[in-house]
Amino acid sequence: MNLLPAEPEFEALLDYLKHNRGCDLTGYKRSSLVRRFRQRMQSINIGSYQDYLQYLQSHDSEWRALLDTVLINVTSFFRDRDAWDYLASNIIPKIIASVQPDEPIRVWSAGCAAGQEVYSLLMLFAEALGIEACLQRVQFYATDVDEAAIGQARLATYDSKQVTSIPPQLLEKYFEPTLDGYVFHRQMRRQIVFGHHHLAKNAPMSKIDLLSCRNVLIYFTPETQASIFVRFHFALKNTGFLFLGNSETLVNHRQIFTSISLKHHVYAKGLNLELNDHLLINPKSSKEQVIDTTTSQIQFWQTAYETSHEAQLAVDNRGCLVASNNQANILFGLTLNDWHRPFEELEPGKLLGSQTSLQTFYRNRRRVTLKNIEWNTSKGTSYFDIYIVPVFSQKQHLLGVNLTFINTGSLTTSSRG
Ligand SMILES: C[S@@+](CC[C@H](N)C(=O)[O-])C[C@H]1O[C@@H](n2cnc3c(N)ncnc32)[C@H](O)[C@@H]1O
Repeated sequence: MNLLPAEPEFEALLDYLKHNRGCDLTGYKRSSLVRRFRQRMQSINIGSYQDYLQYLQSHDSEWRALLDTVLINVTSFFRDRDAWDYLASNIIPKIIASVQPDEPIRVWSAGCAAGQEVYSLLMLFAEALGIEACLQRVQFYATDVDEAAIGQARLATYDSKQVTSIPPQLLEKYFEPTLDGYVFHRQMRRQIVFGHHHLAKNAPMSKIDLLSCRNVLIYFTPETQASIFVRFHFALKNTGFLFLGNSETLVNHRQIFTSISLKHHVYAKGLNLELNDHLLINPKSSKEQVIDTTTSQIQFWQTAYETSHEAQLAVDNRGCLVASNNQANILFGLTLNDWHRPFEELEPGKLLGSQTSLQTFYRNRRRVTLKNIEWNTSKGTSYFDIYIVPVFSQKQHLLGVNLTFINTGSLTTSSRG
């Protein structure tokens, strides 16, 4: 039987899983995927992809068994010990120094498997800050596409073989012995938010100081890896770090990341994202919405996105958010999922909507400044000057508006300028 990776019967299987089981494996490298599928098929005596498709259709739980074979959960505490020593002595102190004492430090273990990685991170931060300060200051997120793995990670119980890579003094300090192994420190475990998350599909976390994604990206095609790196760029604070696995290299044509340690696969954020990067994670919009994008539109988008250290947003002439820079994402808690959503539904849209509607600007086609606009949140009241600048194509068609929010901190009442 011909088993070329890209053969249509195999792709039909992936298509079925994606559309009928919500299990999207299309971004994974075909060579290893084919190997794993064959392994599963052999174990149930199925020889062809067509037969396996029928089997999947008639056995509701088969896709989960397949997923168990496809998703490789091999992991360990402090995996590649040298890299973790480097993290502890060089990176974690930098993160602690870069974050104000009253601000949270946010750490994300993406592809956390059964939790060993996130508990390793937790121990290192607790060692650096002390347990009390770590509990107060550091928020951990641990995500995986494999629900069963997350379930294990939540339990935090490990047998004596699994804990052999933990230095004895840390094992003693952070684990309690159980009848058949060890369980991680109960109170500290609560610092971790566990969740289901597909790296190539779901919106990334935001404002992350340290993103550990180790031994996961190797399973993806180069194109999917590139789109995940864009998501990671989006997820990280400007001062944040990315920690990859020992066999993973960041394919980084446009230098959106720069290497901090080639040996230990630690990266910092590099250049800002551009339109082409955005299209990598939203190919639907590239095909269906901006296929006829003109140069001036690209310039509009890039200018709106990159020009300022102030919070900036671009809204197109249909009233949808098309870009937001880092400052705006941080200020308004925006994520990539918000791009292409109606602006009026988003926090900055509501803030603006309390004063006037964007339609007014579209009609008047001239720049407007709103002074000292009050924004009430659970954290208190802030005041902004909002600059709204219409953006035109070379033929003077209105493309949308560029909004800049400048936090004045003023306590005067709002007035229009
Ligand atoms: C080999 S383990 C690595 C675990 C840990 N990061 C380490 O380095 O020890 C790979 C993990 O990536 C997860 N994974 C695979 N595809 C994923 C995806 N699309 N999104 C999130 N996690 C994924 C798997 O379920 C598995 O738990």
